[in-house]
Amino acid sequence: MLSVEDIHSYYGDSHVLEGVSLAVARGEVVAILGRNGMGKTTLVRGLIGFTPPRQGRVLFKGKKRWNLERVFALFPRLAARKAHPGDTLAGGEQQMLAIGRALMTNPDLLLMDEPTEGLAPLVVREVAKTLDELRREGLSILLVEQNVPFAAKVADRIHVLSRGRIVHSCSPAELLADDEVKSRYLGLGS
Ligand SMILES: Nc1ncnc2c1ncn2[C@@H]1O[C@H](COP(=O)(O)OP(=O)(O)OP(=O)(O)O)[C@@H](O)[C@H]1O
Ligand SMILES: [Mg+2]
Repeated sequence: MLSVEDIHSYYGDSHVLEGVSLAVARGEVVAILGRNGMGKTTLVRGLIGFTPPRQGRVLFKGKKRWNLERVFALFPRLAARKAHPGDTLAGGEQQMLAIGRALMTNPDLLLMDEPTEGLAPLVVREVAKTLDELRREGLSILLVEQNVPFAAKVADRIHVLSRGRIVHSCSPAELLADDEVKSRYLGLGS
């Protein structure tokens, strides 16, 4: 679905991504974990063309069909909100709306930059459930996160980004068991 081959990205002279390669298969959830400033958003910007890599390749292909009815079936709470457009949306509902709007474009691949940021634990669990459903539908997801438990729960594969490079790749179970990687790159006490 998505193939990233040795991309190098810069802001001016600042060399931020120093050769990142990864792949996302159809129906696969791949998470990129990394602390502040390690290049996660720069990677996403590279994929969508906002900060085009100066070197390397991004390859992409696919298909799928979404409509309003299916989005409301996925997020019944959004359907309920439709009747009250004046109400303010809670954090979790805003995230559902963002995902629903993205689905309406019939994506083959969903790119998510820290979707759980600022959400309450209960809502984070709901987002996890949603991603699980979407994965079962065959949607591919590339998720950028600092929330290690969340990423480990929803991803099939994890890459750890540090200073613009993928320094470790593993399964979620391996990551959770790896105190060295968690403390060295993800700021988690072992
Ligand atoms: N527009 C910009 N101009 C110059 N440097 C930038 C710009 N955006 C980011 N950077 C720098 O590039 C590096 C990577 O930033 P990036 O935003 O990709 O990190 P991140 O992993 O997404 O961090 P966070 O977890 O804080 O979102 C950082 O050193 C950052 O200061
Ligand atoms: Mg970021």
